[in-house]
Formats: sequence, C-alpha cells, structure tokens
Amino acid sequence: MTGQPRHFLSIDDFDYAELRAMLTAASSLKSRLKQGDRPRPLVDKVLAMIFERQSTRTRVSFDVGMRQLGGETIMLSGQEMQLSREETLSDTAKVLSRYVDAIMTRILSHADLIELSDAASVPVINGLTRRAHPCQIMADLLTFEEHRGPIKGAKVAWVGDSNNVLHSWVNAAEVFECQLTIATPEEYSPEKDLMDDIRRAGDMVRLIQDPREAVEGADLVITDTWVSMGDVDIAERRRVLKPYQVNTSLMALADKNALFMHDLPAHRGDEVTDEVIDGPQSVVWDEAENRLHAQKAILCWAFGAEVN
Ligand code: CP
Ligand code: NVA
Repeated sequence: MTGQPRHFLSIDDFDYAELRAMLTAASSLKSRLKQGDRPRPLVDKVLAMIFERQSTRTRVSFDVGMRQLGGETIMLSGQEMQLSREETLSDTAKVLSRYVDAIMTRILSHADLIELSDAASVPVINGLTRRAHPCQIMADLLTFEEHRGPIKGAKVAWVGDSNNVLHSWVNAAEVFECQLTIATPEEYSPEKDLMDDIRRAGDMVRLIQDPREAVEGADLVITDTWVSMGDVDIAERRRVLKPYQVNTSLMALADKNALFMHDLPAHRGDEVTDEVIDGPQSVVWDEAENRLHAQKAILCWAFGAEVN
C-alpha cells in the first residue's frame, strides 16, 4: 500500500458524504448478496483481527464479511500474542503491517488504538474501544433507514448508561442531523470526552435524566448493557440504572411506529424486557445482521475497492 492508510476509528473522523457513501455501498452489497451476487474485490487480501476482549457479532461478521469479499482473516487473541508479554502496540502494528493488508481490533483503551493505528502502515478498523463503537453505529443507521427512511430529522432516544455505543451515536447525530435525546442517571453521566462531543453536536443532542421525557414521541429507542466491558461496579450500576429499563410502558410513550434497537448482547430483565426485545417494534436481529453488510462496506472503503 502506498500513501497514508485509511483507518476507520471513530464516526467523527468522517464527513457526511464519506459515511453516506459507505451506507450506500452496504445497502448495495446486502441486496446483491440476497440475489446470490457476491462481488469479490478483496481476493488475496488478509485481515488480522486482534481481540483483547470477548465478541460474538464483531468477530463472526468481520470474518464472514472478509470471506464473502474474497479475502481471508487471521484471528488473534491479545492473550496469545507477545502483547501480553509487554511488546508494545506500535511495535506490534509495525510487524503486522509487514504481513497483512488490514487490521481490525477490539482494544478497550482508545489511546492504545490510536497508538496502534499511528504505527500501522495498513488500514486499522475499530471493532470497539471504551470510547467508541463506530461499526455498530453504521449498522444501526443502515437498519433505521431500511425500516423508516432517512435518519435526518428523526427523533432518537437513548436510555441508560453513557458508554461507547452512545458516544458513537452522538457523533452520528451530529453528522446525520438527527435529534438525539439521551436519558442517563447523574451517577453515570457522560465523561468529559463524551460531554465535549455532546456540546459540539449543539442542537442535535440533548442530555437529560428522565427516560420518559426522552422517549416521548421518539422514532427510535435505543439502549445497551448497563455493564460494559471494563466496568467493575456491577451491583451499583444495576441499582442506579434500574429506572432506565426499556419495558412496554416506556415504549408506549414513543411514537406508535417507533423502532427498538440494542447492539447486543442483551441482558434481558435488566436494560430491556423480553416483551420489548422480542416484540414487534424490535429490529435487533436486523441490526445484528447489518453489522455484516456495514462492515463489508467499511472494508471496501479501507481497501479503496469499488463495489457499486
Ligand atoms: N454488538 C457487538 O459488538 O457484539 P459483540 O460484542 O458480540 O461483538
Ligand atoms: N457497551 C458494550 C458494548 C458491547 C458490544 C461494551 O462496551 O461492553
């Protein structure tokens, strides 16, 4: 690869046109796949995937996506690598860049991800840090638009913890101009970095504490686990976040056509009830499927491969 590699680290690294082009490519790849048409622009390309933490959707959807595009993957666990014996991320990135064509990582520290991507001479894709989960939000946007049309101007409610998935939604609200209202308890209110991005998003993002007010008239209600990877105060989180459960009575306050999303894995009975996640407004399985299609588009973008 010549020149600077194209990394996919955070939604706010991109402008509307770039993200819209990726979503269009994702839609196109999805409908072509359903018709049995599998473009293979990544033949002979190898993606290394480094997982410092657990994953079901991210690891399988990247692996399958890469294969569908004609490429191959190498699955690496941080524990099995010399990373666990103090080889630095930047040294690791330099070495991997000599072997593989791109790297996808699930590394909790966003600063570590930046260190790795700064040293890599191949594209790096963020498969989740404590700060951001941009691939997830691309799948969420694709899912909303498939069901309800353009996200621009839509009323989106986030209910629960203020975490990495929310952070990427805040960035998306700014770029796609949807009206995001966040209801989160004071005890788990956004950290400084997220607060800065909420302020930057201006009128697009509103931060409150009342989940009922947030959901009122919403077109989309989103929640996520109350305990993200790396959180330690599990019992306290479950206690404080209890009023933020998305259940039938909360969903009843949203628009009657509102969708429900959750990036999964769900903790049924905590942040969401069975009735909601298994109910008619839930699109969580489409959302999970769309990780595959959105990430195929991100991979094609990273490799500079045309798919439309
Ligand atoms: N939503 C998501 O990233 O799922 P995994 O943790 O299973 O990859
Ligand atoms: N917020 C969750 C997302 C899991 C996909 C976490 O960081 O664990």
